[in-house]
Amino acid sequence: MNVGDAMNIGARGDAGTRELPEVADTEAFGAALATLLRAGDLVILDGPLGAGKTALTRGLAAGLGVGGRVSSPTFIIARAHPPGGPEQPGLIHVDAYRLGGLDDLDALDLDTDLDESVVVVEWGEGVAERLVDEYLLVRLRRDDLSEVRQVSWEWVRND
Ligand SMILES: Nc1ncnc2c1ncn2[C@@H]1O[C@H](COP(=O)(O)OP(=O)(O)OP(=O)(O)O)[C@@H](O)[C@H]1O
Ligand SMILES: [Mg+2]
Repeated sequence: MNVGDAMNIGARGDAGTRELPEVADTEAFGAALATLLRAGDLVILDGPLGAGKTALTRGLAAGLGVGGRVSSPTFIIARAHPPGGPEQPGLIHVDAYRLGGLDDLDALDLDTDLDESVVVVEWGEGVAERLVDEYLLVRLRRDDLSEVRQVSWEWVRND
């Protein structure tokens, strides 16, 4: 069973927008995205403080079936979650907020091969996209007066 299936967000390569009324919806959206992702993919999460970037990553981790608890990696910069099984990608969760730049993800010296994982970078816009030819850009927006989040996503190719 995959909790993400119910959300019907289309195929890999598609763009879209969605309203996420509460945190469970943001997690379900992350799980839905996971069904489109494969090892070596980069996901850049953009959005202000408290927008739900980590909540979305929690859903992504659940959808991918990776191990370990997702938490805000603020103090550790990056966390590697092991794959849930053979032939499945792991998840590398990076918080770029404290990083001046991210010239090379290898510089994080993770004990994991990036090609074997999905890499998700909070605050990654302007920092991580040049590491790859194509990435999934996910933007979260919030209205201070309500819990509702707006998410938009698109696959972006570097020229
Ligand atoms: N619709 C929603 N989607 C996501 N989170 C929500 C929603 N409604 C309320 N919340 C709450 O907003 C907070 C989002 O926190 P989260 O850590 O995921 O944000 P973040 O974007 O990662 O923040 P930071 O910039 O500090 O890393 C949580 O406390 C969550 O419960
Ligand atoms: Mg966060």
